[in-house]
Amino acid sequence: MASLNGRIVLVTGASAGIGLATAETLANHGMKVIACARNIHAIEDLNKSLNPDSQIHIIRCDLSKEEEVLVLFKGIADKFGGLDVLVNNAGMGGSGTGLLTGQYHAWQDMLNLNILGLTLCTREAVKLIESSGSKNGHIINLNSVAGHRVPVSPMRQFYSGTKHMVTALTKNLRTTLQPKNIRVTSLSPGLVETEFAQRSYGKEDPEGAAKMYTQIKALDAKDIADAIVYVLSAPAHVNVDELTVTPLQQRY
Ligand SMILES: NC(=O)c1ccc[n+]([C@@H]2O[C@H](COP(=O)([O-])OP(=O)(O)OC[C@H]3O[C@@H](n4cnc5c(N)ncnc54)[C@H](OP(=O)(O)O)[C@@H]3O)[C@@H](O)[C@H]2O)c1
Repeated sequence: MASLNGRIVLVTGASAGIGLATAETLANHGMKVIACARNIHAIEDLNKSLNPDSQIHIIRCDLSKEEEVLVLFKGIADKFGGLDVLVNNAGMGGSGTGLLTGQYHAWQDMLNLNILGLTLCTREAVKLIESSGSKNGHIINLNSVAGHRVPVSPMRQFYSGTKHMVTALTKNLRTTLQPKNIRVTSLSPGLVETEFAQRSYGKEDPEGAAKMYTQIKALDAKDIADAIVYVLSAPAHVNVDELTVTPLQQRY
């Protein structure tokens, strides 16, 4: 397996759940980690537990705002002069997004983050990967099993639609970036115990959200961080196109 040491990675949505675990794990593998989110306290706390060589560079950013994303990438270019890897992790489910009951602004918020934020970050990351002549260019999109199959719950219909779009975008990107030797991966977790359930469905269905992680042993965020290490450690001629990781007991 290839060493990750010294590669520069941006992890989006790194203040909680999968993003936070990924930032920590990649920093411990010697990567130069840039982490962004709107609330950065948890990443600052994480830095206190990391040794001085593994410190994470933190940039506050709301990925649903174009101007903030452009400032984020300018900051990375100025500080690091380039980029190797983008982990497009930030994403949301959402109350108020049912197909027949949803509100326009709730659909819009989800599209802004799950699709436009991801696409904008990808465009800007590819510019930096290319301008810096990186030999390890890689875009990893956090997809979901809901990006491949349609869940029955009305609360997940629109979310599932955004993740199906991530599937399509990732396949298109794979073809587009192949001539540039930039690798592209869709990583599709099943149920992972994070803040996702409370953030996404807590308002509409607090009991359901609270129960989400009690029925079966869900994945830990670290399980997905370790899957990202596997994807990045593959030899340069190997592209992991799609990786689905689910709890053993999950039926989907
Ligand atoms: N948990 C699961 O069961 C599961 C399963 C399949 C796929 N996924 C996918 O995995 C990814 C991570 O999920 P998770 O479970 O780790 O979620 P989470 O615990 O809810 O964390 C979401 C992260 O996204 C960030 N975020 C939200 N809105 C943002 C915005 N406008 N700008 C910047 N950052 C923003 C949050 O930070 P701030 O609030 O501080 O900005 C937070 O760091 C998502 O794409 C999700 O769809 C999760």
